[in-house]
Amino acid sequence: MSEVAPGVWVLRTPNSAYVLNVGGGEDVPLAAHWGAPVDDEAAIALAAVPLAPPRGWESRLDGREEYPSDTGLRFTEPALALRFPDDSRAVRWVLDTAESDGQHLLLRYREQTRPIALTLHYRVPAGHDAIERWAELATDVPVEVLRADSAAWCVPARESARLSSLHGRWGADSRLQRTDLPAGTVRLGSRRTTTSPMHNPWVALDDGSATETHGEVWTAALAWSGTWRIDVQRLPDGRVAAGVGAGHEAPLVRLAAGTGHTTPKSVGLFSGDGFGGASRAWHDYVRAEILPHGDEVRPVLYNSWEATGFLLDEANQIALAERAAALGCELFVMDDGWFGTRVADNAGLGDWLPNAERFPNGLGPLVARVRELGMGFGIWVEPEAVNPDSDLYRAHPDWVYASPGYPRHELRNQLVLDLGKPEVAAWLHGWLDQLLAEHDIAFVKWDMNRPVTDPGPYGDVLWSTRHAENLYAILDRLRRDHPGVRFESCASGGGRVDLGILARTDQVWPSDNTDASDRLHIQEGFSQLYPARAMTAWVTDAPNFLTGNRLPLRYRFHVAMAGVLGIGGDLPKWTLEEQQAAIALISQYKRIRKVVQHGRLFRLRSPRESDAPALAYLSAAGDEAAVFQFLDGRRFGEPAPPVRLPFLPAGTWEDADAGTRYPAAFLAAHGLDAGLFRTYDSAVTHLRKIS
Ligand code: GLA
Repeated sequence: MSEVAPGVWVLRTPNSAYVLNVGGGEDVPLAAHWGAPVDDEAAIALAAVPLAPPRGWESRLDGREEYPSDTGLRFTEPALALRFPDDSRAVRWVLDTAESDGQHLLLRYREQTRPIALTLHYRVPAGHDAIERWAELATDVPVEVLRADSAAWCVPARESARLSSLHGRWGADSRLQRTDLPAGTVRLGSRRTTTSPMHNPWVALDDGSATETHGEVWTAALAWSGTWRIDVQRLPDGRVAAGVGAGHEAPLVRLAAGTGHTTPKSVGLFSGDGFGGASRAWHDYVRAEILPHGDEVRPVLYNSWEATGFLLDEANQIALAERAAALGCELFVMDDGWFGTRVADNAGLGDWLPNAERFPNGLGPLVARVRELGMGFGIWVEPEAVNPDSDLYRAHPDWVYASPGYPRHELRNQLVLDLGKPEVAAWLHGWLDQLLAEHDIAFVKWDMNRPVTDPGPYGDVLWSTRHAENLYAILDRLRRDHPGVRFESCASGGGRVDLGILARTDQVWPSDNTDASDRLHIQEGFSQLYPARAMTAWVTDAPNFLTGNRLPLRYRFHVAMAGVLGIGGDLPKWTLEEQQAAIALISQYKRIRKVVQHGRLFRLRSPRESDAPALAYLSAAGDEAAVFQFLDGRRFGEPAPPVRLPFLPAGTWEDADAGTRYPAAFLAAHGLDAGLFRTYDSAVTHLRKIS
């Protein structure tokens, strides 16, 4: 990044440019360009484009400002809204300094009359197309922060506008929706204190003509696991501006004199190569800059949830572990039900000691057996929640969020612990720290199955940043003290998937729905910005416990092999034939998993548009590929055309399992024909470039 003319800053990424006009005489910077790379001369010309002439009822600044306040001649949703003790909301920001070390630009503003400082941060991680933005307030007078977004992203005016976003619900997470953006404001968000499965904090904007492979796409996400809001506004002049930030209702935070507030990061990413190009750039960025160990290859795990439910004991877990190890699993994760009196979801949550009848000698013998089998041991916890029917709640009924004198509401028979209470945070950290210290634990599945409601005297928790901040602090401390432990984020499936939690977890559970056909849709949505490296995917039993679908084992495997493969079936019930098939498929997965987890994703045929969906991963070096093809409910007799692979580097490619050789140009022109024939046929082809 550099200042190419007084007040004109250009932030350059490998495939995009972002131009700011800091010297335009307005309070905060004006967005001059976000899009394809430009040279200095063009950047200066872009910054010189005048604001539109004034028109009745409209603001010349709307859709142009990088961080609009709610005062002055502005009518957009503000990025920043402050209220002073005298009820005044007027602010005017005066630039003090613009400092940059080449990667990080800090624009330091002070308020014209009050001792408040606002710093806008821009960071461009080297080698990535992502632009990270956040804002920081420091005040010497008390002030209520009604709104403090991380960023306002201004998308250049085009003839039309389309919005892509991820929506969902329990069991139907991360569904991609793509819709024309109407004039007005589309608000996505969560007021559930967690990210929520209803919307994911990410949007993509285009002019309606972008495809998987072509066109301009502007995307933005929020690195935050609490309540949040994205307001996408299509303004009267056709411009699009997206305000992205934590919190939902005001006020966000009340600042005393001498304090401050730093927003979470929002990350923007432009791609000139369509939705596919945008996703690949996101994946590279998330692996390199967000995930704590993004370069790791994740093991094949087994999870007990769909096999033994809450009714687990030492013997049945050892039986599962032995089967799992024999199939080639590398990590055994014992899910819910190992502690307290827990045999259903109505009791025991909060009592984090192994059930004395079902684990008479504690967890030791099970962990030892799992280790002996050559696997890592993983364990399920839901630390933020409590069943009223638990010793913990009986001892500390005041530890939960509640509105005294008002009805208490349970969801899944549970309440949420107030992590803002120091004694709660200390207790929670204490037992987890001890669990990790006492046992050889490699993996923690951290679940959270209900939002906060009834916030009581701490009403601000619903719209503030408090719960997530407290959660982050505990996770950060546990990670620091137990650096070998890996974490999985789960919230009834994909209810807490975002760049904030991914900075402190190693993978996420995208959905409780393990039906492979539904998963194709869930995984497609997930893959818009999150990489396969972070996406746990289990093979479970047929009929599926949720949908009743009976899909072939191969198909279930092939869908799960497009992420971090896991097994979640009731293994003692698997036939010999199924076990043999599983062994072969797991071993194939181990040969391709580096390509899947670290490769570049090409979504070739979307399950939303085709009943012969296909996708492929190409290794970072461009010398290996894994091609996934499915017949998903296609009617018999309607053959799927071969899937074309135009992205393969030139040369000769070989099917690593069958030995067939193909010139890259053949695979680009004709495609790879997997010979799929019957409904729910599927194939995974491992290609290697041999010359
Ligand atoms: C949630 C999770 C599941 C499982 C159960 C256990 O629903 O999403 O994967 O862990 O809780 O109660």
